[in-house]
Amino acid sequence: METERAGKRGASAALCALGISIALFAMVSGCERREAAAPASPAPPILSWSHFEVPPEPPSTPDLVADGQRVFNENCASCHGPRGEGNGRCAEFLTPGPRNFVAGILRFKSTPGADLPTDADLFRTVSLGLRGTPMPPWKFLLSDRDRWAVVAYIKTLAPALNGPAGKPVELGAEPQQITPQMVADGKQLYADAGCATCHGDEGYGDGPSADTLLDSAQMPIRPRNFHKGFEFKRGHTLRDIALTITTGNNGTPMPSFRESLDPAQVWDVAAFVYGLDNPRLAPGSGSMSAVAQGANLGHPDVVINLRERAWRYEPAVIQVTEGQIVRINFQPTDNGLGAGHGLAIDGYDKDAFINGALVGRPKSVTFKADKPGTFTFYCATQCSTGSLHPNMKGTLVVLAANEGKH
Ligand code: HEC
Ligand code: HEC
Repeated sequence: METERAGKRGASAALCALGISIALFAMVSGCERREAAAPASPAPPILSWSHFEVPPEPPSTPDLVADGQRVFNENCASCHGPRGEGNGRCAEFLTPGPRNFVAGILRFKSTPGADLPTDADLFRTVSLGLRGTPMPPWKFLLSDRDRWAVVAYIKTLAPALNGPAGKPVELGAEPQQITPQMVADGKQLYADAGCATCHGDEGYGDGPSADTLLDSAQMPIRPRNFHKGFEFKRGHTLRDIALTITTGNNGTPMPSFRESLDPAQVWDVAAFVYGLDNPRLAPGSGSMSAVAQGANLGHPDVVINLRERAWRYEPAVIQVTEGQIVRINFQPTDNGLGAGHGLAIDGYDKDAFINGALVGRPKSVTFKADKPGTFTFYCATQCSTGSLHPNMKGTLVVLAANEGKH
């Protein structure tokens, strides 16, 4: 048991060292996008930061803060640290790392520059998580009150967070439609404003400065690749993008353009950026469609729907043939036993690794089964590979190509 655990830990550490962050978090949203829905039917809510409807905030009382502390210790401390210093016991396995609240530099806000976020801003981030990062969407796991409570508690963690919130920026009226003129103007403004220095001429996140950027914790940070809408941390809607351009991401090299672009210009640039992925979508619609990691591998030969139920994988044995492109859709189920699970395959963990799939928020991974043999898969969600999910094991059998033929 000990050696096995040590092995697991070794595997996780190796994964971290490989910097396997980004692509692992490809996700499939829990909400179905409706194709050509009749106008009369109510639109499904858009699960993105700037569209999220924030419920009324309860008054901040000592009781609420005490509840928030309990919620924090149970759900957040493992990543954010017992005192919110970003140094929880899982932190070293995570890329990007969890926020250090005590440093007081918060990124996802409706307020500009270094101004403090509003409580509603924090509530949005806590509710929806940050896409493409290990920060989970707590909306599916904690009640509204618990999320408000933890927001109230976070603010007590550092004097820096105690001040008054900034004033939300004005975005002006959101365009009802993206016109070719907006996109053309936006493209010019994108060049003039210098976005390409970081995000690249064509928005692939590969500008001349891209490899040199650091965040306020002195950790390397990449500019977003605009062709991967599912990696936009706030969400990939016109409004999310316009908000980011206006506020900037405090504590990162992503500047606020509030002084240099007026709201109409911001919407134009946002339209250009938005159009680089999913050009056919209307402005209000989210891009929460299923986008799989490994999309460049082409169409999968096999699709496996893998479930977690009561801390076990179903099916526990997966068999494929060498050379096949395999897609695994992984869905934790709601059984009151903890809602975040992952999948890593020893020997394939560089290609097939899912971190923090949640109830209501399954994730997928696509990889090529290019090594024959028998491999163990296990729960890769942080902190879970050792003692927490001991039963979550399965076997991947990759039959040698010649064996699979008969
Ligand atoms: C699995 C690890 C993990 C857990 C558990 C987790 N977080 Fe996070 N959290 C992160 C990471 C990583 C980030 C930073 C993502 C980024 O900005 O790239 C983050 C960012 C945040 C932010 C963003 C602050 C900003 O800069 O705007 C808030 C707020 C936050 N977390 C609150 C919480 C709360 C509250 C909980 C518990 C209910 C929680 N987190 C649990 C990993 C985690
Ligand atoms: C100095 C470098 C730099 C410049 C210039 C810059 N960005 Fe960024 N941008 C970044 C970095 C770094 C991030 C990633 C921040 C993060 O992960 O929190 C980012 C993130 C973004 C995001 C994604 C936010 C999200 O939700 O994930 C958008 C949209 C964006 N930038 C648009 C722009 C536009 C448009 C311009 C020009 C008007 C611009 N950026 C200029 C560095 C830059």
